[in-house]
Amino acid sequence: MNSLDDFIAGIPKAELHIHIEGTLEPELMIALGIRNGVSLSFPDAEAARKAYNFSDLQSFLDIYYRATALLLTEEDFYDLTIAYLKKAASQNIRHAEIFFDPQSHTSRGIGFETVIRGIERAFVEANSSLGISTKLIMCILRHLSEQEGMEIFDKALPWKQWISGIGLDSSERGNPPEKFRKLFERAHREGFFTVAHAGEEGSATSVREALDTLHVSRIDHGVHCMEDERLVEELVEKQIPLTVCPLSNVKLRVFKSMKEHNLKTMLHRGVAVTINSDDPAYFGGYINENYIEAAKALQLDRSDIIKLAQNSFIASSLSTVHKQLYLNEIERYTSQQIT
Ligand code: ADE
Ligand code: ZN
Repeated sequence: MNSLDDFIAGIPKAELHIHIEGTLEPELMIALGIRNGVSLSFPDAEAARKAYNFSDLQSFLDIYYRATALLLTEEDFYDLTIAYLKKAASQNIRHAEIFFDPQSHTSRGIGFETVIRGIERAFVEANSSLGISTKLIMCILRHLSEQEGMEIFDKALPWKQWISGIGLDSSERGNPPEKFRKLFERAHREGFFTVAHAGEEGSATSVREALDTLHVSRIDHGVHCMEDERLVEELVEKQIPLTVCPLSNVKLRVFKSMKEHNLKTMLHRGVAVTINSDDPAYFGGYINENYIEAAKALQLDRSDIIKLAQNSFIASSLSTVHKQLYLNEIERYTSQQIT
């Protein structure tokens, strides 16, 4: 029988919570700095990695937004995206739903079309050469106003054929879902799939509000839902998915250690949890490392891993038929394993 780590590495899975700007590895940061003539706050990749010590979400976001200043051209966004998709395919990710934060680029004078053309070119290439399917989710920065969110929404509409969903990210504290009620109403009217970060640093109330006020189909993080038993019952009953990011939660001190993470408790309670990497260039691992570290600390077994991988496709925004094709891949994979 192969090891659990090998089993995890080989199982087909979907990634549903990944910020493309959070895949900017220090090596690419250095290369972009040279190519674009932008001076960096880090002299080399090693220095950057050493500086990635975060006390909370905001301390991470400060560094994360600063690093986006290196992304200037369509080529930069293409390079960033194709590097992630190659890595994802190498880890047997079969489908990825990828966030981007256009406001962090347009605020620097980068055209919306520059960003989205670079990302889309990488998607098209990866769909054919790597056989991985992709969807793009535009995140609204919640530390900015709803009006500014509306302005980026206007800019996005001409590119609607390349955007599947609307999300909400950035600083959760002081920026409740309610602040974006009208924007999400508009997203629904335009037929977008919707998601929101909630219950990462915020409480169960934030998750409740994202569901009842924004009517999102999926919650990003959501780990604080366990504070509210009625909410948990509803998540289980309606099978509302949570995109959990274990390494991120430990790095940003949502949990003191991986052993204290509530992923297994939620999974065994029947919540539709999935494992994702959030910002892998900053948090020490891509999807397989997230599965492996969580499995080790929480003593997950093969049936837990299979359930998590199945959840990842079921929770995606793919069609029922497409989901079933991927679930069949898991079935074939598990039946081929020597027990
Ligand atoms: N943007 C990038 N990563 C994020 C996270 N973990 N939470 C909120 N916004 C983010
Ligand atoms: Zn996130």
